Amino acid sequence: MYGDVAEILYSREQIDERVKELAAQITGVYQDRDLTVAVTLTGAFIFAADLVRHLPNSVRITFVRASSYRDAEEPQQVPQLDIPELGFDGRHVLIVEDIVDTGRTAVALIDAFRERGAASVRVCSFLDKTSRREVDVDVEFIGFTLTGSPFVVGYGLDRANRYRNLPFVGVLKPEVING
Ligand code: PRP
Repeated sequence: MYGDVAEILYSREQIDERVKELAAQITGVYQDRDLTVAVTLTGAFIFAADLVRHLPNSVRITFVRASSYRDAEEPQQVPQLDIPELGFDGRHVLIVEDIVDTGRTAVALIDAFRERGAASVRVCSFLDKTSRREVDVDVEFIGFTLTGSPFVVGYGLDRANRYRNLPFVGVLKPEVING
């Protein structure tokens, strides 16, 4: 698996440090307010697992499905959402994403939680791929901003549902991507 990687963009150590900083930033914003963390499947599961363990207060955690790609390639205009009926009325919701790309998924999720009566909705994304943005979205908490449009894998991010378990974020070799 590691042999398929051309370059490591963010090491395990860099990620650990950044996740702790993000958790501190989030704690500073929410203070003692009751927080509901909505983790987008599948990609955010590793980031979220690390992040929530650095939050000092008890939080509610739920998992949402938001698919913006079919067959890993073709972007859809309207992401399909699947949100459990946890009760969001009056709640402070923090959406946790692995990556914000076009921004369509994050916008759809923000709208969905607002429609459900959330008191506040914010977005925390491990990666921000600003070069691909198609819609305006406020990502308040960002782990790392990607410059350019590298296709990255690891730490939850996949290529055809593989490589999510890499402990770092890397770029695959061209022959792996094309082959
Ligand atoms: C990825 C990621 C975000 C979305 C971002 O999910 O987890 O939810 O794409 O893209 P956007 O900003 O263009 O909407 P994906 O559909 O690849 O599913 P996965 O997490 O299961 O890999």
